[in-house]
This record gives sequence, structure tokens and C-alpha cells, in this order.
Amino acid sequence: MADSRTRIEQTGFGATSRRDAWWLELLPVIIVLGGFSIYATWRALEGQHYEWGPYLSPFYSPLIKPDWWPLSPAILILWAPLGFRATCYYYRKAYYRAFLLDPPACSVGEPRHRYRGETAFPLILQNLHRYFLYLALIFLVILWYDAIAAFWFDGSFGIGIGSLALLANIVLLSFYTFSCHSFRHIVGGKVDCFSCVGLGGSRRAIWRSASFLNEHHMLFAWLSLFSVGLADLYVRLVASGSIQDVRLL
Ligand code: FES
Repeated sequence: MADSRTRIEQTGFGATSRRDAWWLELLPVIIVLGGFSIYATWRALEGQHYEWGPYLSPFYSPLIKPDWWPLSPAILILWAPLGFRATCYYYRKAYYRAFLLDPPACSVGEPRHRYRGETAFPLILQNLHRYFLYLALIFLVILWYDAIAAFWFDGSFGIGIGSLALLANIVLLSFYTFSCHSFRHIVGGKVDCFSCVGLGGSRRAIWRSASFLNEHHMLFAWLSLFSVGLADLYVRLVASGSIQDVRLL
């Protein structure tokens, strides 16, 4: 029986016996992920219109502005959430297919003749995902603080569209983070018997919740991508004076 390397060489890039429009799966990823990447890069470099009243754009949180730093403050912090998303197991599948065509889809010939997995530079860096998760958990706490602070206007409780946008964003980011494969592994991986380890009952409960969320990880990956972009866009529009904040309370 031929091994996978032989099969790839025999079929060649793009060759397939599939009769469906497999390439249609790639288009949404190219459009949405590509569009978000362009928007996020522009916003990160813009360096202005990132806060208004109690609102702070998630692209700029935590806001760190040292005197010696001449560029946008977003550049100092965005590498962490960016690294978390870029090394996410789901996003890898999406952008390996859509942008690297490696492979373009199941049972479709890929451009490489040799499969090395993620064992060599630069893809070996994908193994840093667990460490980006630790950073993402810190960011989550900070963004929850921002979302709660967004309900306080000059010391008084209030609700604006921006408050709701930041709240929806952090809820979806929380679902995305706690549905992470690495998080699930941290709480439940390597444990064959929960009742045999310390805090086994709690770990089992967290692991079961993480497992439930994990089944929907792809959904949370996309929803949180939209929410973070839209929350930033709303703050930008208000901060730049393009629109006025709508206060509901
Ligand atoms: Fe997607 Fe960890 S696997 S965030």
C-alpha cells in the first residue's frame, strides 16, 4: 500500500477525485480572516481613537504608553492575543488550507512533496500555544475589568451601546478561551482517574464544562473574532466623533 508521501507525488497539487465544490470552503476564511487581519493591522498601527469615556478598545487593552515608545501602544500588547489566535488549533486548520493550500482541502493534492508536520522552524513555534493560553487568561481578566468599567460614566452606572459591545466581546472571548484544546488538556489531560487526584471533583467538573465548550470551539473562534473587531470599530467611531454613543440608560 502506498504511503501518504507517494500518494501526494502521484496526484500533484490540486489534483483530486472529489466532485463537490471543495474550494467554496476556502472563500469565507480568505475573506473574513484576511479582512480582519488587514483591519486589525491598520487599527494597531493607527495609534489613536482607541478610548472614549469609559470605553477602551480591546485592541489597546491593557493601555501601556511608556514615554520612550514612539509607536502605537497596541503594538506593545497585541502580539500576545495575536499569538494565541495564530497558534490556535482551529485557526491553523483554517489558514493552512485557505492561505497556504497545505492541503487546500481533504483529499486534494497539496503543493509540498514532503510532510514534516510542525517539527521544524517556523511551524514548530505553533507548540507555544499553551504559553499563549497563559497570557490569554491574563488578558481575559483585564478585558473583564474593561467591560465592567464601561458601565460607569463619570462615576454613575449607565448602559451605552459601547458597554454592551464590550460586554458581548468579553463573554465571547471567554467562551473562546475556555473552549481551547490546551485549556481542556491542562484541566483534564494526563488524568486517568479524577477521584485519585487532588481536587479531582472540581477538575472533573471544569473538564466536563471545557469539553462541552470545546465541541463549539470553531464557532467561538469566529464569533469572538467578529466581536473584538466590532467592539473596536464602535469605540473608534465614537472616539473619532464619526458617531455619537447611544445611551440606553
Ligand atoms: Fe483554539 Fe486553543 S485551540 S484557542
